[in-house]
Amino acid sequence: MELKNLIAEGDGVEVYEYEGKAVKVFNDPSLKEKCLYEALTQARVETTLVNSWLKMPSVNEVSVLSDGRWAITMDLIKGKTMHDLIEEDPSKTDLYLDKMVDVQMELHAQYMPLLSKLKDKMSRQIKSLGVIDEIKKYELLTRLDSMPKHIKLCHGNLTPRNIIINEEGTYVLDWVAARQGNASADVARTYLLLCLEYPALADKYMDKFCLASGTSKRYVQAWLPIVAAAQLIKNKPEERELLMKWIDVVDYD
Ligand SMILES: Nc1ncnc2c1ncn2[C@@H]1O[C@H](COP(=O)(O)OP(=O)(O)OP(=O)(O)O)[C@@H](O)[C@H]1O
Ligand SMILES: [Mg+2]
Repeated sequence: MELKNLIAEGDGVEVYEYEGKAVKVFNDPSLKEKCLYEALTQARVETTLVNSWLKMPSVNEVSVLSDGRWAITMDLIKGKTMHDLIEEDPSKTDLYLDKMVDVQMELHAQYMPLLSKLKDKMSRQIKSLGVIDEIKKYELLTRLDSMPKHIKLCHGNLTPRNIIINEEGTYVLDWVAARQGNASADVARTYLLLCLEYPALADKYMDKFCLASGTSKRYVQAWLPIVAAAQLIKNKPEERELLMKWIDVVDYD
């Protein structure tokens, strides 16, 4: 497979157009497990979303390139990401945020007992952190353990960059972080990602989501120290101050 037409670069991946398909190449051969996890998760979600208005690229093939890198070949989704659309016409930001709320609520309407559990992932991430002390870890793990156990489809990375809108509909991409879990945890994760990349939109999104879904903001806020701690695992210096601040807040007003 000779990949020439790079269409996007992500965090540790390159996405190429090849023979009418999208090929997501993981940057290092050691990312085999991540690639296989993403492909299996994507395939499982595909089966679940067949009856939904929400669309996603279907997985066609998993392969190893001649240089040892792993790759997923999937449907190529034409059109722009919601991120590009907001940048192009900021006056439509509210409409796009409403759309993203609809997308996230539709995801949470799906039950996914076959995916691994979001709580297990977060617990593993928190346990492995070196930058917070054992007492804080214990507090966070106790909080996590007390949270309601749900089996809803949580995308785990729902942001405007992972949604493409075209004439055929609304597509959700990037399934590597999807798990079964609690909807409020998934919204808290989206809120965190928005605070990091689109600070002016985060509170608006949270308000819109809570209003549309009838969720009390307190349920989402209770997850914020947990999602902040889990994100510390990425070890990005520019995120550290905000994450440490969130970890220390016990109750939000
Ligand atoms: N099937 C596809 N069709 C069209 N464009 C795609 C497709 N898959 C990915 N892209 C483009 O490539 C970008 C990066 O892909 P993706 O979001 O899957 O990787 P990422 O954000 O680096 O994720 P991660 O490293 O978390 O798996 C997307 O934002 C989108 O612009
Ligand atoms: Mg992405």
